Amino acid sequence: MKVGLLGAGRIGDFHARTLASNSQVSCLRIMDVDAARAESLAGSVGASTAAGAAELADWADALVIATATDTHAELIRLGADAGLPVFCEKPISLDLKSTDDVLKAVDDAGIPLQIGFQRRFDKGFAEIRRMLQSNELGTLYSARLATHDPSPPPDQYLKVSGGVFIDMMVHDFDIIRWVTGREVEEVYATGSVLTGNKAFSEADDVDTAAAILRLTGGALAILSGLRHDPLGYDVRLEVSGSKDSVVAGIDGRTPIRILGKDERSGTEPGYRDFIDRFTPAYREELNVFLSMAKGEIESPCTGRDAREALRIALAATKSLHEKRPVSLEEVL
Ligand SMILES: NC(=O)c1ccc[n+]([C@@H]2O[C@H](COP(=O)([O-])OP(=O)(O)OC[C@H]3O[C@@H](n4cnc5c(N)ncnc54)[C@H](O)[C@@H]3O)[C@@H](O)[C@H]2O)c1
Repeated sequence: MKVGLLGAGRIGDFHARTLASNSQVSCLRIMDVDAARAESLAGSVGASTAAGAAELADWADALVIATATDTHAELIRLGADAGLPVFCEKPISLDLKSTDDVLKAVDDAGIPLQIGFQRRFDKGFAEIRRMLQSNELGTLYSARLATHDPSPPPDQYLKVSGGVFIDMMVHDFDIIRWVTGREVEEVYATGSVLTGNKAFSEADDVDTAAAILRLTGGALAILSGLRHDPLGYDVRLEVSGSKDSVVAGIDGRTPIRILGKDERSGTEPGYRDFIDRFTPAYREELNVFLSMAKGEIESPCTGRDAREALRIALAATKSLHEKRPVSLEEVL
């Protein structure tokens, strides 16, 4: 399969290496508005480059979009117009109107679309989902999720990120729906700026966030999101039910010091960043995308899933600003 990759930045670099080493890919071509960056990445993975996105779409059998967020909508449309299967990094867009417009174009073209919520391909999260589906955990009572970034993104990025719920905790909103099979009915979110970085307040954003989600059936999810964790990148999910409680994301590299009877101070270095933590999941999501592009399977993470995660993130943002619980029905 001839795969066109758009974007040669942080995540594009990693996806290029994954695609170049995947046996389902016969040829990889890379395009970035920063042509030197595309050339350099192509050179290091044995790929070629394309001068423009349209040229790439004409040539490719499938498109992988890893460009800046504000370009996703137009590039998904480009893939839809060319009738290509598309993988796109989250989010489709920062607002529901343009997300809906893109999803209509995707539906009209009948192309398969997969959005990059890689936690769905993490073995621990997938096992909790299986245990809930098979009733091994019993009645779902509660879930606790943590997403802690080692350090905040650049100040310039904060202005266009959409805020911590849309940019970072949207992964939690997607995974809670996928793992539990429940929808979110209501969100109460709050947050503070505690790092001393004024860029957060200037962007009307927070660096320390929490949210409580009420799920269909009454189960509760409690989320914490930090933009600064001095020990590393920490993503965990705990689920408690009437029969059992389980956690995914705790291992020798989890950046947290465990105190008490079995005191353990990390003998291994904590996860550095999202790529370090989720390397196998990122590889598997693109492997599955290639199978989807060949028509072997349905999309494992659709545009509608991304829209729903965005709705929850928008509800959380509204809750933060208005200091009250927000029903998902308010975000249409
Ligand atoms: N799923 C995840 O865990 C995850 C992790 C990181 C980033 N992301 C998403 O991936 C996207 C990229 O993030 P990043 O951290 O790699 O950003 P980045 O700034 O490092 O890279 C973005 C690249 O896109 C290029 N670009 C911008 N507009 C373009 C266009 N029209 N055509 C071609 N190239 C263009 C830029 O020149 C840059 O090289 C963002 O939308 C982000 O939300 C997802």
